[in-house]
Amino acid sequence: MKTESSWNSSSSANRPDATSKSLETRIFQFTGEVVENRLVSSSTHRIDLSIPHRDSLRVKPGEFFMIRTGPFLDPLLRRPFSVHSMGRLGARVERLSILFRVVGQGTQLMATWRKGQPVDMVGPLGRGYRIPEDLGTVAMVAGGLGIASLFGLAQSILQRKKGADVRICIGGNSKTDILMKPELESMGAKVNVTTEDGSIGMRGVATDWLEAESLQLASERDTVVYACGPLGMLAKVNTVTERFSIPCQVSLEARMACGVGSCLGCAVKARDQGYHMVCKDGPVFDADEIDWERTKRLI
Ligand SMILES: Cc1cc2nc3c(=O)[nH]c(=O)nc-3n(C[C@H](O)[C@H](O)[C@H](O)COP(=O)(O)OP(=O)(O)OC[C@H]3O[C@@H](n4cnc5c(N)ncnc54)[C@H](O)[C@@H]3O)c2cc1C
Ligand code: FES
Repeated sequence: MKTESSWNSSSSANRPDATSKSLETRIFQFTGEVVENRLVSSSTHRIDLSIPHRDSLRVKPGEFFMIRTGPFLDPLLRRPFSVHSMGRLGARVERLSILFRVVGQGTQLMATWRKGQPVDMVGPLGRGYRIPEDLGTVAMVAGGLGIASLFGLAQSILQRKKGADVRICIGGNSKTDILMKPELESMGAKVNVTTEDGSIGMRGVATDWLEAESLQLASERDTVVYACGPLGMLAKVNTVTERFSIPCQVSLEARMACGVGSCLGCAVKARDQGYHMVCKDGPVFDADEIDWERTKRLI
């Protein structure tokens, strides 16, 4: 199995936002095929899917695919999963990897998939992480499976800018929740770990690390904070980065039905007025686009 990344170079550049992207040329319905499905911790799987290459396929870290988990009417709706990494399996075949945790019916079905299983999916969807041209220090805060999409972002930044200063804190309840640390370190990222039970790394939560580092991060050139994890953690990341005036992007999760902005099922409260649709306007937002208090009551 090839593990090297193949984020399309234009996938990491700043492309037009999802709101202006052409549905016809950017979003595809594929039938992929499972290449490998393995447990990477007690409840987390990594699944590698082969998908047909398309010249116009551009996948950017932070974007997601809607995946059909069963052949029958139940579960009816496709489930959203972030792209964990992309690679090439051959001249006309791409590898799309996702990390997923078993939480309900759909993910239970996915856990049973074996090599050769056909998989119906739609994507890439949404607005991924934006990487500024003048990017300086990068600080990432990953709560639990938040590392699923931040891994691809770190890979893309380090592929694009050799020697980039990428610091990541991965937080979890216990050491079995801490994933991808050796892989990130071998790419050149500096990885910190927090666990609530203290079984590995610093005892505490990932935002403790951010709070401790913020003064330093704020003094460095063109720092950007990226965060993915539970809503409460993201709200705290916003509080800290706002206090230190550090630009921050967050990847949000919401229950989704259509994935393309039609059903209004994934609405979160906007800071100015109205709502943002997580599937179409996000899932990655500038942290100051969100009304955190009202969104916490909504999701
Ligand atoms: C943009 C986006 C990217 C995602 N990326 C990943 C990923 O990379 N890896 C991964 O494991 N999961 C990811 N998720 C969450 C994933 O979509 C859900 O875990 C999945 O849909 C659950 O399906 P299910 O049928 O197993 O569970 P269900 O039977 O639908 O639900 C089981 C339980 O999980 C809860 N739940 C379901 N979906 C969510 C959600 N989105 N947020 C919070 N709670 C939820 C339900 O409330 C219920 O308690 C992502 C979600 C979004 C919106
Ligand atoms: S999931 Fe339908 S609008 Fe977002």
